[in-house]
Amino acid sequence: MSLLVLSNISKSFGPVNVLHHANMSVDAGEVVGLVGDNGAGKSTLMKIITGIYKADAGDITLDGQSILHLDPGERRAMGIEMIYQDLALAKQQDVASNIFLGREPVKSFLGIIPGMVDKRTMDRKAQEMIDRLGANLPAINRPVGTFSGGQQQTIAIARALTFDPRVVIMDEPTAALAVREVQSVLDLIRQLKKQGIAVILISHRLNDVLSVTDRIVVLRHGRTEANLTTSQTTMTKVVSAIVGGDDMEAAAAHESAG
Ligand SMILES: Nc1ncnc2c1ncn2[C@@H]1O[C@H](COP(=O)(O)OP(=O)(O)OP(=O)(O)O)[C@@H](O)[C@H]1O
Ligand SMILES: [Mg+2]
Repeated sequence: MSLLVLSNISKSFGPVNVLHHANMSVDAGEVVGLVGDNGAGKSTLMKIITGIYKADAGDITLDGQSILHLDPGERRAMGIEMIYQDLALAKQQDVASNIFLGREPVKSFLGIIPGMVDKRTMDRKAQEMIDRLGANLPAINRPVGTFSGGQQQTIAIARALTFDPRVVIMDEPTAALAVREVQSVLDLIRQLKKQGIAVILISHRLNDVLSVTDRIVVLRHGRTEANLTTSQTTMTKVVSAIVGGDDMEAAAAHESAG
């Protein structure tokens, strides 16, 4: 049995049916790609995992136990972390402040008077998280907004790690990055996998998905169109599942476009 299993998830927003009996699963140490056209329902499905949206039907289990009744905070406490496309970082604050946002280690005097943030401990722990990722961030004591897109992605991942996640969901982590930064984010994903974390990667960059995942789930108009083992599939098969099996011309065009 897989660590996280989504079964028969359906969801409508008013009259619009967005998900129809969608299925997917991810195991510890497994990287699963979630792909599909714009509006296929990928982000919605992920928000149903974190509890931001409520499914109309279907079940979600973690270790075989349904988590449907849990609120987003409780699901996070169970080890489900999502990194959003906008990263939700405080751009004016430094790396450590972002990694510990809202959970800063506090110094207390005589155990009575709370209040002072223990900046030294915070910086040390932030550095530990970054080292754990094998990432190299120069001078962490400056505003996060001054780091590159890829470095900010690293900071967001380090932040997720402080919650000791079992499942990390990433929505388009490489969409806005330069080539070299894409590679370092893919390396971070491999690092999470090595640590036994289950990763769900949403991406339109199919080359990235093919290079870093173990499995690829294709959503099409809210339905699970395909569940492919990455080592046994091809770009053409993935694209054809995305656009619909009958539209092989589009698949071929996509393939030749790289
Ligand atoms: N809160 C909402 N209210 C109404 N409709 C919504 C809401 N969220 C998403 N939708 C609709 O649900 C459908 C699926 O959206 P979703 O964001 O899940 O797609 P996606 O696969 O993540 O697309 P993209 O690749 O463009 O990010 C879209 O038609 C979208 O307009
Ligand atoms: Mg989306």
